[in-house]
Amino acid sequence: MVRKRQLHLGAFMRPATIHTGGWRYPNSYADANFNFEHIKKFAQRLEKAKFDAFFMADHLAVLNMPLDALKRSATPTSFEPFTLLSALASVTKNIGLVATGSTTYDEPYHVARRFASLDHISGGRAGWNIVTTSNPNASLNFGLEEALEHGDRYARAREFYDVVTGLWDSWDEEAFIKNKETGEYFDPKKLNILDHKGKYFSVRGPLNIARPVQGWPLIVQAGSSDAGRQLAAETAEAVFTSHSDLIAARAFYLDVKTRAK
Ligand SMILES: Cc1cc2nc3c(=O)[nH]c(=O)nc-3n(C[C@H](O)[C@H](O)[C@H](O)COP(=O)(O)O)c2cc1C
Repeated sequence: MVRKRQLHLGAFMRPATIHTGGWRYPNSYADANFNFEHIKKFAQRLEKAKFDAFFMADHLAVLNMPLDALKRSATPTSFEPFTLLSALASVTKNIGLVATGSTTYDEPYHVARRFASLDHISGGRAGWNIVTTSNPNASLNFGLEEALEHGDRYARAREFYDVVTGLWDSWDEEAFIKNKETGEYFDPKKLNILDHKGKYFSVRGPLNIARPVQGWPLIVQAGSSDAGRQLAAETAEAVFTSHSDLIAARAFYLDVKTRAK
């Protein structure tokens, strides 16, 4: 039997373009990164063209590049991902909406709640790109003098994932019985208290939003180091990567697949 192979397409939008000088093309919209009307049209066009996902990257700081180079880039300004993707959810129907969520500068309860909300608002189209945020300038925006060391960032990320997915399991699928006769809104037997106490986090739960439509929203990971690949292999359903030749790309693929097994 011939196995049907299908190519899936995702658009890395950040939120409008990756090319730092793309705004200079004669017909480009120079303000596209922070102009919702343009981004709305891009998302709708991608959906019409059968793209599976719209990915919104996030960096939590203006990139730490020399100002002489940075002043030519359209990337220092963009929307906060959840605000943008929630708005896009209401003007699209099918396309997946993937946002970056940092495990270094955020809290699992916030992240679990935001993705659960986006999953409900979009009818089950949310995806979380787990990143540990390598930009050291981000720490300066969160009251920290120094960025966490690479290994620590990944250890925290692994525990962060356990807490977020644990919180998504706070309510069983049929927990909300909404019985108007008896007056019972939910069934306490279908409520699960996480009670997580680990090295980095102490989170009781439960999450104050119903189980996400997908159960767990899609998990994406983009690490390329040893620790990054290991996190991808242990957690991700889709892996972002970037290679300049086929041999390196195949080696990466094989490595992550082998670790996943
Ligand atoms: C396609 C792609 C998208 C990425 N998106 C983000 C992002 O939105 N925010 C971020 O801080 N890092 C992002 N990264 C960087 C990765 O999270 C990661 O830090 C980088 O690949 C280096 O790997 P390492 O963390 O394992 O050393 C992205 C990487 C790739 C390949």
